[in-house]
Amino acid sequence: MPTYRLAPSILSADFARLGDEVREVVAAGADWIHFDVMDNHYVPNLSFGPMVCQALRKHTTAPIDVHLMVQPVDALAQAFCRAGADLVSFHPDASTHVDRTLQLIKGEGRRAGLVFNPATPLDLLEWVIDKVDLVLVMSVNPGFGGQSFIESALRKIERARRIIDDSGRDIRLQVDGGIKVDNIRRVAEAGADTFVAGSAIFGQPDYKAVIDAMRRELAR
Ligand code: DX5
Ligand code: ZN
Repeated sequence: MPTYRLAPSILSADFARLGDEVREVVAAGADWIHFDVMDNHYVPNLSFGPMVCQALRKHTTAPIDVHLMVQPVDALAQAFCRAGADLVSFHPDASTHVDRTLQLIKGEGRRAGLVFNPATPLDLLEWVIDKVDLVLVMSVNPGFGGQSFIESALRKIERARRIIDDSGRDIRLQVDGGIKVDNIRRVAEAGADTFVAGSAIFGQPDYKAVIDAMRRELAR
């Protein structure tokens, strides 16, 4: 069985008490903190920037998994590397030179991820797989929490799993959008090993109950 990682998205947390929310969700069993960065340009929503990441860095030793939904990418990618992010993922269609952006993140000593929207093909992975530490398959269109899981993501996860396995590299396969207790198992069976969940966790009063239920589904 793969080592599964649960990455709650603080996009659905209480922004007025983010530090506490991060500590509580890690205490409830979260492995990573998923940090959704939206710029009201690449996506039609606005969230938080590197200064918030830097502030949260003091509240947890859990890896901070930054998901950039911004265009242009490079300056913010570098700012997040320096603000304490452990992983920085970006959408290749938002970067003019994908290989260069990957090199920038790796050069800062961080892990780098590529994010594929529901309608974006995985093709370019072939050419940059040696610089990628995480592949994120979006199962919603980026921009908002609380949307429904798009079923075609399952086939894309299967395909990404084959590409990763063929590479022989240690690459995480993450899925983001509409992940709940009742579909996480199917997504794992398709090949994902790292799961973002926002509303499913922060929308419930008992974070540990949801995280435990997700782990039970993954273990069965
Ligand atoms: C969407 C974000 C997601 C979002 C997931 O653009 O990338 O990380 O927070 O939220 P849920 O789990 O509610 O679909
Ligand atoms: Zn995300």
